[in-house]
Amino acid sequence: MTVTTKLRLGVLASGSGTNLQSIIDQCQSGQLDAEIVLVLCNNPDAGALERAGQAGLPHLCINHRDFDDRQSFDRAVVAALKDAGVELVVLAGFMRIISDLFLAAFPQRIINIHPALLPAFPGLHVQKQALDYGARFAGCTVHFVDSGVDTGPIIIQAIVPVFDDDTEDSLSARILQQEHKIYPQAIQLIAEDRVRIEGRRVRIEGAEKYLSALINPPLK
Ligand code: GRF
Repeated sequence: MTVTTKLRLGVLASGSGTNLQSIIDQCQSGQLDAEIVLVLCNNPDAGALERAGQAGLPHLCINHRDFDDRQSFDRAVVAALKDAGVELVVLAGFMRIISDLFLAAFPQRIINIHPALLPAFPGLHVQKQALDYGARFAGCTVHFVDSGVDTGPIIIQAIVPVFDDDTEDSLSARILQQEHKIYPQAIQLIAEDRVRIEGRRVRIEGAEKYLSALINPPLK
């Protein structure tokens, strides 16, 4: 009998939690060699908390409004993640900036998903930024978190077309479909210990074999 240890995930979310849901689903179906050991939200009304509850996962709200500053909020978040034995911190629509204290507690072990093709359009309302700019392609990026805003080394990206009649909502929905694919993919690559950070670049070991899976949408 082979015993596989699962990568212990702490998922941080502020909103509806559809990315969280895709990770829950793939953990449950056995597609991911990972388990969610804590879902943590800063917003008591986050749909993500309800999704975690429905899935029977440990979940917790630490409201940033209860803290005087970012450092003390982050200290509480880090303590909860450490208590739960989290090995990889997965930001899934977590609308708070991560402080140096948080980064130091999980070096190269915090990842984020951003709904744009970085380095284009970091920050907020990025689907609208892509539309307003007239970009023909948009997409999403999974990256390691560093001390900048959406600047860390890129693990995986997916591309979607921008259509002439797109609205912010229609483009966001098309991007979100890809987010739900590539976030679990990136987590699985880390669970398989295939991901190496080399300066700004991320090398994925055995990528040749997985190349078709890394191009989103896959080449026909
Ligand atoms: C996603 O678009 C993600 O890329 C961004 O916030 C959104 C979260 O959506 N960082 P959800 O809560 O996972 O549905």
